[in-house]
Amino acid sequence: MSEDHQLRVSKIRNGTVIDHVNGGQALNVLAILGIDGSEGEELSVGMNVPSDRLARKDIVKVEGRELSQDEVDVLSLIAPDATINIVREYEVVEKHRVERPDVVEAVLSCPNPGCITTEGEPVTSRFEVLEDGVRCSYCGTIVRESIASMIDT
Ligand code: CTP
Ligand code: ZN
Repeated sequence: MSEDHQLRVSKIRNGTVIDHVNGGQALNVLAILGIDGSEGEELSVGMNVPSDRLARKDIVKVEGRELSQDEVDVLSLIAPDATINIVREYEVVEKHRVERPDVVEAVLSCPNPGCITTEGEPVTSRFEVLEDGVRCSYCGTIVRESIASMIDT
């Protein structure tokens, strides 16, 4: 492939490239990671760019930060095909897929207004990850779709 023609977002020197994110999910990826640029993080986001593997993909590049497997695995809920590339001195030194975690804590908020986690108590949200959704550990509410709308921002 003629990379020079296809590269829309510049290469990074050191950091993490989250590639093959489902089209339209890049901002949710950043929300899940708690990255909003307000701390001066150097970020590049490409949305709905053509891809071999997905019809359209998003790509997120975070300069100066190597994200850990635990941090990125929660992304599997909204970007199951994402690949994580750790970059050092412009080279990809590690590449791996996101894996579904068993439990997700402090990332999603429960949609049940009666849930103890949403009543202003100092309780950290906790969801078990099911085959086809997530289940609140406190009230049992199961969410199968629109998980992105549960992201704490
Ligand atoms: N990348 C980057 N900065 C670098 C090196 C790579 O932003 N210094 C980006 C590339 O643009 C690409 C991703 O990281 O989007 C993965 O890079 P690479 O493994 O070189 O590309 P591919 O082989 O196309 O990756 P894959 O097989 O995962 O599609
Ligand atoms: Zn709940």
